[in-house]
Amino acid sequence: MSVFETPIRVDLADLPATEALAAIVACLLRPGDAVLAEGPLGAGKSTLFRALLRSLTADPALEVPSPSYTLVQSYDTPAGPVHHFDLWRLDGPAGLLELGWEDARCDIVLVEWPERLEHLRPTEALTIRLGNAGESARLADLSGWPDRIGRLR
Ligand SMILES: Nc1ncnc2c1ncn2[C@@H]1O[C@H](COP(=O)(O)OP(=O)(O)OP(=O)(O)O)[C@@H](O)[C@H]1O
Ligand SMILES: [Mg+2]
Repeated sequence: MSVFETPIRVDLADLPATEALAAIVACLLRPGDAVLAEGPLGAGKSTLFRALLRSLTADPALEVPSPSYTLVQSYDTPAGPVHHFDLWRLDGPAGLLELGWEDARCDIVLVEWPERLEHLRPTEALTIRLGNAGESARLADLSGWPDRIGRLR
């Protein structure tokens, strides 16, 4: 994010609101895109990406386990292959290359804990920073995607 860019804030009053945001992002995705989800433990990063993958595949029952131990889980979708990364346990960018990061970047990548990407962090990404605002309320600060972010307001 450039220092001049102010994130767009979206109130996610409940889980359906998070699912609705995920569905809009899903419609806008194309190969080469990166969506980076930031926020503390339990903020809803996996929940957001689960909803996104279910929307993308039009399969509300799609199994989307949190890849906290495998670090990456890949899906075939009508928008092309999608790779869901959870980098909480990543040791460093070298480990990321072993996970197939460079090939995955030709497809769509969804990343939890993108802070771990360090110098490999994509500059053109959509970043969604989730914060808690109550038991089931969240706030999402969206930045990046200057050509498409207006669709997410
Ligand atoms: N509006 C909401 N949006 C997203 N999740 C919500 C919302 N309201 C409640 N939740 C709940 O908050 C929890 C979020 O857990 P989730 O595993 O998605 O967090 P996470 O950010 O991926 O955590 P971690 O850093 O451990 O991977 C889930 O139990 C989800 O049902
Ligand atoms: Mg998670």
